[in-house]
Amino acid sequence: MTDAPNEFGDVPPGCFPPVPGAPPPRRPPAEPEARSASISLVAVDALKKYFPLGHDWSDAARWVRAVDGVTFEIGRAETLGLVGESGCGKSTLGRTLLRLIEPSAGRVSFEGRDITRMRRSELRPLRRRMQIIFQDPHSSFNPRMTIRSALSEPLRIHRLVESRAQETERLETLLRKVGLRGDALDLYPHEFSGGQRQRIGIARALALDPSFIVCDEPLSALDVSIQAQIVNLLLDLQGQLSLSYLFISHDLRVVEYVSDRIAVMYLGRIVEMGPSAELCRRPRHPYTHALLSAIPPLDPNRRRARIVLRGDVPNPVDPPSGCSFHPRCPRAVLDRCGREVPELSDGPPGGEHQVACFYPMD
Ligand SMILES: Nc1ncnc2c1ncn2[C@@H]1O[C@H](COP(=O)(O)OP(=O)(O)O)[C@@H](O)[C@H]1O
Ligand code: SF4
Ligand SMILES: [Mg+2]
Repeated sequence: MTDAPNEFGDVPPGCFPPVPGAPPPRRPPAEPEARSASISLVAVDALKKYFPLGHDWSDAARWVRAVDGVTFEIGRAETLGLVGESGCGKSTLGRTLLRLIEPSAGRVSFEGRDITRMRRSELRPLRRRMQIIFQDPHSSFNPRMTIRSALSEPLRIHRLVESRAQETERLETLLRKVGLRGDALDLYPHEFSGGQRQRIGIARALALDPSFIVCDEPLSALDVSIQAQIVNLLLDLQGQLSLSYLFISHDLRVVEYVSDRIAVMYLGRIVEMGPSAELCRRPRHPYTHALLSAIPPLDPNRRRARIVLRGDVPNPVDPPSGCSFHPRCPRAVLDRCGREVPELSDGPPGGEHQVACFYPMD
């Protein structure tokens, strides 16, 4: 370990167009000004989710600290991208803020109301407006249910249709909205391709007219050639319906493309958050910098030093003291980074770029 900040050498020029090898999506995300990020739809405050793991030899309780004190807001019609390595807590965070998993501590507000301690009956009407799209559209559908049954279930639970004819009309409109033919309703999930199944997953999320959707790695199970189509669809729907997204991915290229802002997660915490173009072009946290340096440049003549992180991601049952990134960080100053926990704090005045690091990059 060094006792002075290291230099990384060549700085990566930023993120790159989405999904190499695929046709580029048709339209870029709307200008940030067109979105009302200032009007918060979802507000997450010091949210924690610890999973119990039994007791150790001394009978002390052990926990997986999957989400360890996370604070952010998402504006109306805004996309916040959430990026980080596998196991850092992204899915747990997405599910906890929808209360599909009960939080251990902290608060989530949706449309200005604290949903954390709401009774199930109070939560039900709000649930309609907060939905999720899963990574694997294959396993998220019951193979023995037709698409009609899968999509009509939420409509019936929320008593939104009164007759079979009304149900059919509503479901056909929904399928057309996601680019499928209305007559697909009586087919089974295995009769569709992976991309079509993900479209049905999106239709299921849209069925109850949500304003907020957690997209949990919605492209990861799809062929590269299909990924751009699904990105296009999500962006088009956002434009038409003013949706807000929490877009989760381990792929910073895609996250930069779809997101207005990006939050970078490491071991249950957000270590950097800011407008996507700025965060990708001028990363301030050494971890973000390392993630960016792993993205191959479009131009092979462009020199870029790849930063190889030491060791593996530490175990969230027993995270390192101080800054949990310190055992892998090339800039760590052990006296401080090994003892004190850096909080997410603002960068230069006037900006929205926050970083949790004692020695951020300029
Ligand atoms: N139900 C659970 N019980 C115990 N540990 C869990 C549970 N769900 C997730 N975890 C653990 O929480 C951590 C975060 O997992 P996850 O949220 O799935 O990460 P990501 O989505 O970033 O890959 C991992 O260490 C994982 O093993
Ligand atoms: S605070 Fe963490 S990320 Fe920042 S220099 Fe120290 S170890 Fe590295
Ligand atoms: Mg996940």
